[in-house]
Amino acid sequence: MEKILTDNYAIEFESGYESLIKIIDKNKYSKIFLLVDENTENFCLNIFKNKTTLNPNLIKIKSGEENKNIHTCIKIWNSLINSNADRKSLLINLGGGVITDIGGFSANTYNRGIDFVNIPTTLLSIVDASVGSKTGINQNGIKNKIGTFYDPKMVIIDTEYLKTLEQRQINSGYCEIFKHSLISKQNSKFEYLTDSNKINFSLDIIINSINIKNNFVSEDKYEKKRRKGLNFGHTIGHAIETHFMSSDKKLLHGEAIAIGIIIESFLSKEICGFEIDKVDKIKNHLLSIFNKIKFNSSSINNIIKMMEHDKKNTDKEVNFVLLSDIGKLIFDVKVPDSNILDAFEYYSK
Ligand SMILES: NC(=O)c1ccc[n+]([C@@H]2O[C@H](COP(=O)([O-])OP(=O)(O)OC[C@H]3O[C@@H](n4cnc5c(N)ncnc54)[C@H](O)[C@@H]3O)[C@@H](O)[C@H]2O)c1
Repeated sequence: MEKILTDNYAIEFESGYESLIKIIDKNKYSKIFLLVDENTENFCLNIFKNKTTLNPNLIKIKSGEENKNIHTCIKIWNSLINSNADRKSLLINLGGGVITDIGGFSANTYNRGIDFVNIPTTLLSIVDASVGSKTGINQNGIKNKIGTFYDPKMVIIDTEYLKTLEQRQINSGYCEIFKHSLISKQNSKFEYLTDSNKINFSLDIIINSINIKNNFVSEDKYEKKRRKGLNFGHTIGHAIETHFMSSDKKLLHGEAIAIGIIIESFLSKEICGFEIDKVDKIKNHLLSIFNKIKFNSSSINNIIKMMEHDKKNTDKEVNFVLLSDIGKLIFDVKVPDSNILDAFEYYSK
């Protein structure tokens, strides 16, 4: 596989590092910066250095979703200012979705926009954040509340980085691979993935997954309609993620989305006629990978309230994207709270 072309940039694999050097030569960047967190500095920096001859200025931030905020952004801007970064500087983001989101946002806002390149190092950021050009930070405890659409110059995908990633993080990323298999008819790996109750993130599966996301984004970059299909499982999933953010049982993105996918699959059955056999298959598959979480009625009520904050909702009405079959999306579905309660019961039993 040479590369995947999105509308405005290429996602490259083995050839990516060579292309990066070509891009750097062509654009004659004045300075090159590399954004890392402590984990990607420990585990990924050497791989990067072994594969390029570059010697960029390092900008290091603290890892974790709780640091994807304006304070970290200010640190990145200040590091750029202190090193005299100008409009011809390049920022390379080496890390998971936190690094690529905040790095992209910082690049977009520094000097009214400098070039950036993403090298995603987690499975989630490889199959999800690599496409779509969304950048952002969290604000007031709301995920991705502040952000932009801003294209990287290119993305390099190198699965060697995944060798040091914790299993829990791999599982979290797999959830998005699985979601892609549900929302696309073309190239869906639904049967293939659910036939074995093991996670599969071979390069072929990764490429297939990125291609599916790319098809959604290229048809509708600014999320007017079709791109909303990528939010399957996320309306409830995001609210669940936010609900647990302030507790001592924080969930990873994919762990919350896995619950969201099970709940929204059940809602799809109730409201859009999605086959129960498929809903059960989805539940069994995901619960063979992710531990079941206990919900009480007050947490469910809180999660329902959280959904009102979801960016897809207009006038506080909660809009779901549901399925009538694999790859058949039904948009802007209003769901009564009673169905949501039933879906939590289905998840819990
Ligand atoms: N822009 C988009 O389209 C998009 C899509 C999906 C998710 N996101 C965002 O991505 C974030 C989640 O991404 P994530 O799951 O990659 O989280 P993350 O960036 O927090 O990475 C997870 C953890 O793994 C560590 N890590 C990264 N690479 C590693 C490696 N190769 N070896 C060992 N440890 C490594 C990180 O330091 C961190 O501790 C969220 O903020 C989410 O909103 C954005």
